[in-house]
Amino acid sequence: MQNLPKPIRLLAPLVAMLAAVVAISGCGTTNPDIARGRVLFTKNCGTCHVMAQAGTSGVTGPNLDDAFAAAREAGGFDDATVEGIVEAQVENPRPSNGNPMASMPPHIVEGTDLEDVVAYVGKYAGVPGAAPPEVEGGPGAQVFANNGCGGCHTLAAANSGGTTGPDLDEVLPGQSEAEIEESIVNPNAKIAKGYPPNVMPENFEQTIQPEEIKELVEYLSESAGKKSGG
Ligand code: HEC
Ligand code: HEC
Repeated sequence: MQNLPKPIRLLAPLVAMLAAVVAISGCGTTNPDIARGRVLFTKNCGTCHVMAQAGTSGVTGPNLDDAFAAAREAGGFDDATVEGIVEAQVENPRPSNGNPMASMPPHIVEGTDLEDVVAYVGKYAGVPGAAPPEVEGGPGAQVFANNGCGGCHTLAAANSGGTTGPDLDEVLPGQSEAEIEESIVNPNAKIAKGYPPNVMPENFEQTIQPEEIKELVEYLSESAGKKSGG
């Protein structure tokens, strides 16, 4: 074990803290919602972190698959170990090695939100072959699924029933592709009536590739207001 891969060496100090963290957090008294954790992760963490299962591409922080893959493979890390590290990091972020500009703000998520995010990252970070669930309906449907849109929006074509944001089957028919795109990349420019600002993530223009935004907008324009499979 002299030449541990870099990610393991980076994580070593945290592993040492782990027993304490598990003791404090009381360990497994609730039943976390992994799907909800994924939506929260794409919104709150994916801006800074790559994680394949979430389809996120932020580069301010370390790639979370790389951070945990080697350690999982070496056999020392199970889901619970990863969960403990993630929880410790969100509650009490370590300063970035040598780069004070790139640090992680503490307490980005708390309470049940934290539990769900932690369970989600623990299940998928660094798991070989982890990828967003594959969906039918073409590339735009995949972008919709990858970015957690369905967690907040109803869209029959995507079999999604989220109610945090407007029902896209109701509000999108009649809108131009330019209007739909503006709502996605600049959600606070015009707030949908009856809904709060600052809930829809504001960073999709950074986290989704331009080509994928185009596919997403075309998909929404074609499928909103139509039944699934049509
Ligand atoms: C503003 C950018 C930013 C956001 C948002 C962010 N992080 Fe981080 N994260 C970082 C940076 C930078 C580091 C590396 C420095 C450090 O360890 O604090 C990091 C480190 C980590 C690590 C340690 C990885 C390793 O190699 O040891 C984990 C785990 C982590 N973040 C999880 C999360 C989770 C979960 C969220 C969402 C709740 C999140 N981060 C949100 C920037 C961010
Ligand atoms: C965390 C919840 C959440 C997520 C995730 C989310 N949205 Fe939203 N969205 C909202 C809310 C709330 C509104 C209404 C307020 C506003 O206009 O910003 C909204 C508004 C919209 C609108 C404008 C609807 C109208 O009335 O014209 C569109 C289009 C939209 N979202 C598409 C998307 C797409 C596509 C994604 C995924 C890339 C997505 N949203 C992800 C919460 C969310």
